[in-house]
Amino acid sequence: MKFTKTIEVKNIFNKISYKYDFLNNLLSFGLHKLWKRKLVNLLEPSKGEDWADLCCGTGDLAFLISKRVSPSGSITGIDSAKDILNIAKKKSVQKKNNFIKWEIKDVLAINDYSKKFDGICMSYGLRNLNNVEEGIKKVFYLLKDKGRAGFLDFNHSTKSSLSNIFQKIYLRFIVVTISRLFYLGPEYAYIEKSIRNFPKKNELIYIAKKVGFKKAEYRTILGGQMGILILTK
Ligand SMILES: C[S@@+](CC[C@H](N)C(=O)[O-])C[C@H]1O[C@@H](n2cnc3c(N)ncnc32)[C@H](O)[C@@H]1O
Repeated sequence: MKFTKTIEVKNIFNKISYKYDFLNNLLSFGLHKLWKRKLVNLLEPSKGEDWADLCCGTGDLAFLISKRVSPSGSITGIDSAKDILNIAKKKSVQKKNNFIKWEIKDVLAINDYSKKFDGICMSYGLRNLNNVEEGIKKVFYLLKDKGRAGFLDFNHSTKSSLSNIFQKIYLRFIVVTISRLFYLGPEYAYIEKSIRNFPKKNELIYIAKKVGFKKAEYRTILGGQMGILILTK
């Protein structure tokens, strides 16, 4: 069952990779860029620190962080889908940025980077992992003591709340309808299903504390459509 989800998710992101940035900009009206900046601002990466962008996709967060930690620190973008990571690599070449290290890896299978990073970020990645708790445990394992991590994702709001109803309408009637024009309807329909299985804010905080994080804070964005979880080890 778990194995199937990993393969399914990898196939989805390989398939949509060629339109990923274009559709992200279109479907979020460009707002995803602001939210990613907000996440990075909250995390405050600084010169000389070692960072990882997990489930990096086309690498938006890695590019933002590279500006903050270079030239003495490091930033590694990690993703399990080859085609989407290739787009990140192409963007690196276009931007003449050879500072970011890109690695193709299943985040949940990393077992050689214990306490390697000062900071870890993940946007729209945690929800796609086979097991959210295992994902948070992995982040704990990868962080140095006192390290910090930040996750940006859809917020799983309370059923029947206004925010929940709006999210469903937006995903069904805007996201799926537009992505169908590019023959990617089923792939984008997956978002709603994945939010249903994603822990709500209090559950995320509970899991993080259980895993061992000293501090866990959650804030919502855009009337509860998105959420940012910030953790300190
Ligand atoms: C929705 S995309 C987000 C990409 C990017 N972080 C962004 O915000 O635009 C989710 C990414 O997670 C990656 N992913 C899903 N499961 C993964 C896993 N187990 N290990 C590594 N990457 C994974 C997918 O390949 C995909 O690129």
